[in-house]
Amino acid sequence: MTMTPAPFRPRLQAVGTVDAPFEPMLQADELPLGAMRRVTRGELDILLVHTEMGVFATEDRCPHMSAPLSIGELDGCVVACPLHEGRFDLSTGETVQMPTTGGIDADGAYWPTWSPAGRDPKVDPPGKKAEARRLTRVRRLRFYPVRISDGRIEVALPRD
Ligand code: FES
Repeated sequence: MTMTPAPFRPRLQAVGTVDAPFEPMLQADELPLGAMRRVTRGELDILLVHTEMGVFATEDRCPHMSAPLSIGELDGCVVACPLHEGRFDLSTGETVQMPTTGGIDADGAYWPTWSPAGRDPKVDPPGKKAEARRLTRVRRLRFYPVRISDGRIEVALPRD
């Protein structure tokens, strides 16, 4: 299978990456199909994912509370966060499953705190912590342009 970049969605392009220079991240054979890897450049942690659709590059930060998605689980194009069970679709940038802490999704709809099936819904305690949970916004993923060049995975990163 030849490695290719995944289809790119300019609407969800990371800030500062239009006309940004491409930088080498990994050798192509370091990211087999189904693998996720973190690559760090300065203060930026990039998540590289090799799916049947191609290679995606996003920030290695969950759109909920910034946990590293690279140590989560990958199922097709859906990555599951290791912290609050949020699931995010790399092929669309959308939330598939709201994190267990609840919050506001990318379109502004409120999702309550998750409760196990068959149990009464959890009630958030009053106070700042509950308010912070309620107002925490789950963003869409942001994507970095990817290219495969001379057997290397390269990603366009914002200039300093
Ligand atoms: S940090 Fe990922 S679901 Fe909360």
